[in-house]
Amino acid sequence: MEQELDPSLPCCQRLLSAILAMETSECVISHARVCGGGSITEQVQQFIWDHCLSTPGDFHAPYLKNFLKKLIAQIEFDHGHVLDNLYELYAHYMTSCKDESLEKRDARVSKKISFLFPDGCSKLQSCPHSRVLVFPLQCSLNMLEGGTGCSIWTPGLFLSEFVLSRPELFSNKTCFEVGSGVGLTGLCLAHVKASKVILSDGDLSTLANMKFNLELNHLNVEADMQQSNNDQNMVKCLYLLWESASVSQLQDIMPDVILGADVIYDPVYQPHLVRVLAILLNRVNLSFCRQHASCKGISPNIKHDNGEHNHDHAIDISNSKCKASYYDDSNSLPKEAPVAYISYVIRNIETFNYFMSLGEQANLDIVDLTDSLKPLNLLSYMQSYNQANVRLLRITSNNIE
Ligand SMILES: C[S@@+](CC[C@H](N)C(=O)[O-])C[C@H]1O[C@@H](n2cnc3c(N)ncnc32)[C@H](O)[C@@H]1O
Repeated sequence: MEQELDPSLPCCQRLLSAILAMETSECVISHARVCGGGSITEQVQQFIWDHCLSTPGDFHAPYLKNFLKKLIAQIEFDHGHVLDNLYELYAHYMTSCKDESLEKRDARVSKKISFLFPDGCSKLQSCPHSRVLVFPLQCSLNMLEGGTGCSIWTPGLFLSEFVLSRPELFSNKTCFEVGSGVGLTGLCLAHVKASKVILSDGDLSTLANMKFNLELNHLNVEADMQQSNNDQNMVKCLYLLWESASVSQLQDIMPDVILGADVIYDPVYQPHLVRVLAILLNRVNLSFCRQHASCKGISPNIKHDNGEHNHDHAIDISNSKCKASYYDDSNSLPKEAPVAYISYVIRNIETFNYFMSLGEQANLDIVDLTDSLKPLNLLSYMQSYNQANVRLLRITSNNIE
């Protein structure tokens, strides 16, 4: 038998990561061929066996069954020798895992998303010593089961890459995400040491799944906004529906950075999302006004739950020339104005244009940063993900100049 493959070789890392992330059999087989110099050698089969199949653990059995079937067929087609272990495991799945369609309907699967840092990244704060960062995630196979938030979406992968590529934008900051879904961006924010990570979603089953994933990754979950805890492993999870989030609920959050991945897709909810962003980005507290006597007035755009305008808390500074900094009550040092990063794919140009026009009406400054702030490509092993399909917006409030 030839020498074992070295798991630290980039091609082996890509092969392993593709299997763990449940990429298609075709994708995994193409990585396997690269490892074997063009064919799926016994050495490559042994590597797959040792690292994935010998202890399948919580792997999704129908996925492995289908993968084994295609892998064996490819090796036979190439007139190669199939390892006995692979035949035996496939035979086992043939008898034990019969009705795939039943499993598919509401299956939650356990995937592992691996971020592979390229050479030359070792100085990056987010890059682990091994240059591989792996997050196990429970998610849905059916994109619409449990709402859209139980699946992993392309813009969520992009935003996670962005956080890991630009840790300085998030570390030591209070980061708040809308429509957090499975919680992958939150795991990356905790990894880059955001001072506070607050995730939210408006779907209860998504929220339950998100909490499960945070705990799976050894983070502690806190549901109460009022509780303040300096535990670095603590992530807050909020039920937050854009259409019913109150001004005071949003003002309590006080984020430095707001994030959202794949949240611009349904025109019905866009006005509510833009209202939420406008309130969060207009974070100006009373101490700021005391410091800047010229900033006075009342925001006409911000409404309370009952539909009445907020005369006590929301402060309109649209006509004044104030700096993009404000004073935090907890200390008297000036802080930067909040900023939002939203990643999206354009599925419907009209919905996207609607979002942009709502943003303009809310006096938000929306800049496309895709070309200037491209994240590292940390998921190159995924055929199902194409970074080039995603755009990144930076949003700030024009009310703070
Ligand atoms: C397409 S998923 C994206 C999930 C995740 N950000 C990602 O990229 O993988 C949209 C998310 O927004 C949430 N969402 C949709 N409409 C919402 C609303 N009106 N209020 C709060 N959350 C909402 C969904 O529950 C879901 O988790």
